[in-house]
Amino acid sequence: MAVLSKENIKNRYFRRVMETVVSGIRSTGNLHLGNYYGAVKNFVKMQNEYNCFFFIADYHSLTTHPTPANLHGNVKQVLVEYLASGIDPEKATIYVQSDVPEVTELYLYLNMNAYMGELERSTSFKDKVRAHPDNVNAGLLTYPVLMAADIIIHKATKVPVGKDQEQHLEMARTFGNRFNRLYNVDYFPEAYAFTFSENLVKIPGLDGKGKMGKSEGEANAVYLSDSPELIKKKVMRAVTDGGPTEMNQEKPEVIQNLFSLLQVVSSEDTYRHFDDLYNSCQIRYGDLKKQLAEDMILSTAPIRERINDISADTEYLRKVSKLGAEKARESAGKTVREVREIIGFKSF
Ligand code: TRP
Repeated sequence: MAVLSKENIKNRYFRRVMETVVSGIRSTGNLHLGNYYGAVKNFVKMQNEYNCFFFIADYHSLTTHPTPANLHGNVKQVLVEYLASGIDPEKATIYVQSDVPEVTELYLYLNMNAYMGELERSTSFKDKVRAHPDNVNAGLLTYPVLMAADIIIHKATKVPVGKDQEQHLEMARTFGNRFNRLYNVDYFPEAYAFTFSENLVKIPGLDGKGKMGKSEGEANAVYLSDSPELIKKKVMRAVTDGGPTEMNQEKPEVIQNLFSLLQVVSSEDTYRHFDDLYNSCQIRYGDLKKQLAEDMILSTAPIRERINDISADTEYLRKVSKLGAEKARESAGKTVREVREIIGFKSF
């Protein structure tokens, strides 16, 4: 058996700490608990162990045509909430996607090797087409190409995202590998979805149908900036059913969703308590919801308290975004220069 030399151990450690992480959230409104538990909470943990780039995907938000005023307001909101959640600009690189136009150059190159068929087959594209048949624009079709550019421009290997992004990551690997093959280089590494827990988290919404999301309507999502009163109101209105009729019966989706949320924000004891009550047909949904609301409020209180102060500190926000843009452009610029050379662009 090979014995690990000191040097070897050091190298392994070094490689691990130097691994690069990229993730972003589209700026289309306030962050909700799905964003927080699915992504941002992991960002905060990862910044201590990896070379992290966390950005605000404002180019991506253009697929839904925000007004200029909303565009900026939404970017600011995500930046504020990243910082309030504990992302530290001294540890991680926090930047606004549109401050790094190098991304669009790489996006253009990758578009030349992304095929209509594979883009049309993407689940998120098909969902969008179904939801908004009147706005099937080319940016929507190539959304995964832009996302691939975001990731591979920093040569990331880990991407903390929720389960819904797995297919996009697979496409990012496809595009990076295809570039490598086309130019016969070993240039872009493969990036995989990452989470500290066993499974990628899926945070359900309060309307009993699918994930928590902004596009699913106000009542479906709990936002980090919601007041405790509003959180309570939303949770108490969550969809339930008539209650279990048999011992240990399987939970229907609407009920399972509430338990999934409980699992994320409450203690194990609390979860077990309500699970036992359900299994013995003694559960009162009102009690469960009250507890769920209380624990949601408690687990996000420190974030909520910081949001207003940070939002008012324009000078700080300017400093953070400037520093982040500089660091991100340095990394992205290097990649784009090398990619130009690989592709064969030369100056006279
Ligand atoms: N598609 C992601 C979402 O909807 C946002 C995103 C854009 C992203 N580019 C990315 C996430 C790069 C991780 C890495 O949430």
